[in-house]
Amino acid sequence: MNIAEFLPEKYTNNSTSGSVTWKSPSNIALIKYWGKKEDQIPQNPSISFTLEACATTTKLSYEKLEEKGEDFSFDLFFEGKQKDDFKPKIITFFKRVEKYLPFLKDYHFTIETSNSFPHSSGIASSASGMSALALCLMSLEKELNPALSDEKFNCKASFLARLGSGSASRSIEGDLIVWGHHKDTIGSSDLFGIKYPYGVHQVFKNYHDTILLVDKGEKQVSSTVGHDLMHNHPFAQQRFLQAHENLTNMQSVLDEGNLEEFIAIVESEALTLHAMMMTSMPYFILMKPNTLEIINRIWKFRETSGTHVCFTLDAGANVHVLYPENEKDTVYPFIQKELLKFCQNGHHICDRIGFGAKKL
Ligand code: DP6
Repeated sequence: MNIAEFLPEKYTNNSTSGSVTWKSPSNIALIKYWGKKEDQIPQNPSISFTLEACATTTKLSYEKLEEKGEDFSFDLFFEGKQKDDFKPKIITFFKRVEKYLPFLKDYHFTIETSNSFPHSSGIASSASGMSALALCLMSLEKELNPALSDEKFNCKASFLARLGSGSASRSIEGDLIVWGHHKDTIGSSDLFGIKYPYGVHQVFKNYHDTILLVDKGEKQVSSTVGHDLMHNHPFAQQRFLQAHENLTNMQSVLDEGNLEEFIAIVESEALTLHAMMMTSMPYFILMKPNTLEIINRIWKFRETSGTHVCFTLDAGANVHVLYPENEKDTVYPFIQKELLKFCQNGHHICDRIGFGAKKL
């Protein structure tokens, strides 16, 4: 599908007012997106597990204006309170998607949004937040054009979500999503996420992700700035190539259930992401001493227990601890006993692989 296909066809219906609510999950990348071109086009393909527990619920109420506005008209409530400081992000998003949703200035919107995880947890809410909003807008488009197929609905929702935040393109469906063109992944695109199209071993069907909240503070460097620093980065081209190769290698790993190789790719991707940050100019470090403590303990425990627990990181200090369902009775007690002491007030979230957004 090319960009032109996301321009809407003629709307056949009219809708004066209504509301719609979507609950959309977060996701955790196994092969990371870090570095982008103009218009939110990723420099390399990524693949993620869709999550289940970490999610944003967004209600979009719409009321048709007497005449089309000059600006976007909306109010924003976050966890019940008016939140004007989130508005610029939404305006940027609306500007980027207006061409594809020409009704945006025809309505006054009330956006009410809340997260299942604490706002100050250091968990990125852009993936779940932007995908939830994109889905709400798609539901309105579906009202205006009921002929829209389910397949096109999801694809365009991912396309729009990407324009809000790259990783949000991977939060529409589950359980494994690829975003970014990859020669060995049929149907893959820089424009939207797709369901991973090949065989996946049973062991990956109900993977656990226990998220350890090491540092709940505001990030010192935003993802947007981090992505930007991949321009003129001395190792960028090699890194982008590596992500392509890792995704190719991941295919047999996922098919065969090869946990040793899975761990090697996933942990290397996490550390490479942070290595890119440490070798940017200016350079920065988002890991904290406790991040490293946790990683070392995971490595030690894996060796002595014979389990397949591993870690990944996003752009922050928190650690995602990944393990298969059939090892949870060994791994979770280990997390409780040996890892929670490195989390702020023992805070963690027991999440697992999920199957995508739901309309409520
Ligand atoms: C490290 O999707 O937050 O989590 O497109 O600028 O909104 P923007 O960036 P964002 O970047 C996420 C980067 C990552 C890796 C990943 O999720 O693939």
